[in-house]
Amino acid sequence: MPDIQQKITIAIDGYSSCGKSTLAKDLASRLDYIHIDSGAMYRAVAFYILQHQIDIDDITAVNAALGQIDISFQYVSTEVHTFLNGADIENDIRSIAVSNLVSPVAAISTVRRALVTQQRMMGRNKGIVMDGRDIGTVVFTNAELKLFITASLEERIKRRTLDLKSKGLEATSEEIERSIVDRDRIDSTRSDSPLRKADDAVVIDNTQLSREQQLEVAYHLALIKIEQNIR
Ligand code: DC
Repeated sequence: MPDIQQKITIAIDGYSSCGKSTLAKDLASRLDYIHIDSGAMYRAVAFYILQHQIDIDDITAVNAALGQIDISFQYVSTEVHTFLNGADIENDIRSIAVSNLVSPVAAISTVRRALVTQQRMMGRNKGIVMDGRDIGTVVFTNAELKLFITASLEERIKRRTLDLKSKGLEATSEEIERSIVDRDRIDSTRSDSPLRKADDAVVIDNTQLSREQQLEVAYHLALIKIEQNIR
C-alpha cells in the first residue's frame, strides 16, 4: 500500500457495460478510496420516474420529482447498494425497463445539474473513484487521473448478460444488444455533457483483459499520479 497522505481524484468514463463500475469498485477497494457509481444515480432518477409514471417531456413534473428524490449509497453486508428515499433499489435499477429509460432521463439538463452538484459534494475530500460518462469532462475536470474504458460490443453483451443473470434478471441477447447500442448513441449525441474522452484521459481497452489485469493497469497508473501528487 503506498503512502496515501495526499489522496487524489480518479475519474473513470466509458461506454455502457464496459466494466467501468467493476474497475472503479476494485480500484477504490485497493486504494481504500470511496467508490461512487454515478450511473446508479441516473438510474435511481429513471426508476422514480417509471414508478410515478412521470412524462419525461413534462419538464415541470420532472423538476418537481427531483425535489422528492433522495439518493444515497449504503452497505448491505459487504456490497454497496443504491437507496432511493430510504428503500434499497439496487436490483430494480438494473432492470431492462430502467436501462431503456435512463439515457433519455440523463439527457435532461436539470437532472444532470442536480446530480452533478451531489457528485461534486461527494468528491470534495478527494480519495474517490467515480465512474460514469462525464466525470473527467464535467464533474471532476481537475481529477489527477482520468481513465476512458472501452471493450468490443460482443464482450460487452456477454458481460451484461452475466451481470443480469447474477441478479436474477432475464433479457434476450437481442434486447441487451439494442439497449447497449441505443444507450451509447443517446449518451454520445446529447447536447448536455455528451460522453467523450477527456483530452487528458488514458484509454484502456479491456476486451482482452481479465478483471485482475485491468485492475493492475489502473492501479499502476494511480500509483504514479499519487507519487506525483505527494512530491
Ligand atoms: O453506467 P450506467 O450504465 O449504469 O449508466 C446509466 C445511464 O446513465 C447511462 O446510459 C448514461 C447515464 N449516465 C450519465 O449520463 N452520466 C453519468 N455520469 C453516468 C451515467
